[in-house]
Order: sequence, then C-alpha cells, then structure tokens
Amino acid sequence: MSILQNIHSYWAYIVLLMLVVAIGNALLGKFMNKSFTIKDLRISLFALIVTHIQLLVGLILYFVSPRLSAWQEGVGAVMGDASLRLYLVEHPVTNILAVVLITMGWSMHKRQAESGKKFLRIGLFYFLGTVLLLSRIPWSEWP
Ligand code: HEM
Repeated sequence: MSILQNIHSYWAYIVLLMLVVAIGNALLGKFMNKSFTIKDLRISLFALIVTHIQLLVGLILYFVSPRLSAWQEGVGAVMGDASLRLYLVEHPVTNILAVVLITMGWSMHKRQAESGKKFLRIGLFYFLGTVLLLSRIPWSEWP
C-alpha cells in the first residue's frame, strides 16, 4: 500500500470523527439554545479543514491510482465493474458533492447573525455531507 493510500485510509477516521463531533456540537447548541462561541467556530472549522485535506489527498490518489488506466478500456468497462465504478466514479463524485455541502454549511453559518441559525446550518449541511460520505465508502476494504 502506498503512503498516500495509508494517509487517505487513516485520515478518514479523523474526518468522520470530527464531522460527528461538529454535528453533535451543532445539535446540542441548537436544541439547548446556546450562543455560538469561538469554541463552536473552532470545532466546525476544524471539521471543515480535515475534510478538505482528505479531499485533496483523495484527488491526488485518484490520479496516481493503478485503477485509473481502466478508463482506457472505455466508460462501459469501468461502469460495468462494480469495484471500478465505486473507486473511479461513485466514491469520488459523491464525496466531492459531500464536501461541497459541508462547505456550503460553513459559508451559510457565517452569514447568519443568530446562534440558533448558525448551529442549524452547520448541523444540517454537515449531516447531509456525512450521509453522502458514508454511502460511498468502500466498506468491503475499510476499516
Ligand atoms: C472527502 C472525504 C473522503 C473520505 C472520508 C474518503 C474515504 C476513503 C476511504 C475510507 C477509503 C478506503 C481506504 C482503504 O481501503 O483503506 C478511500 C479510498 C479511496 N479514495 Fe477516498 N475518501 C474521500 C474523498 C475522496 C475523493 C474526493 C477522491 C478522489 C477524487 C477519493 C479517492 C479515493 C481512491 C482512489 C481510493 C482508493 C484507494 C485504493 O486504491 O485503495 N477519495 N477513501
């Protein structure tokens, strides 16, 4: 296994853990009517940053992966093979979309003045992103 694969594999724990922490923190903040403090900002920002790092590592991994050459056999060959389809299409596309959602949640919270609305934007969009991420993890290989 290459170093990059190892990093992507282990970093995934940090990403999922931080997303769960940020979602839990946002839900708690929202439903306990807390005010959005610097601590909440740090937790949400940290989750965003580790997710973006995973995205970057994933993108690099994609273009150095030995699987990439399967595209030379045509789109049909990739789409017809469940494993190739997962690694070359579903996992990357779904996860990029997930990161877009998480980033939207982060941006939207900044435009809100009320704490409850901030917590809601982060909680909802980080949750949707996490559901997408979980839906396309290669569970047969990981953890
Ligand atoms: C951002 C959230 C992401 C998470 C949480 C995530 C998580 C994972 C996990 C858990 C694996 C399995 C690792 C293993 O088998 O040990 C994996 C594999 C992989 N991921 Fe991601 N990933 C993310 C984004 C991406 C993106 C955006 C791309 C590409 C554009 C990508 C490309 C890959 C590739 C190519 C593999 C297969 C590595 C191999 O050959 O074993 N990932 N990812």
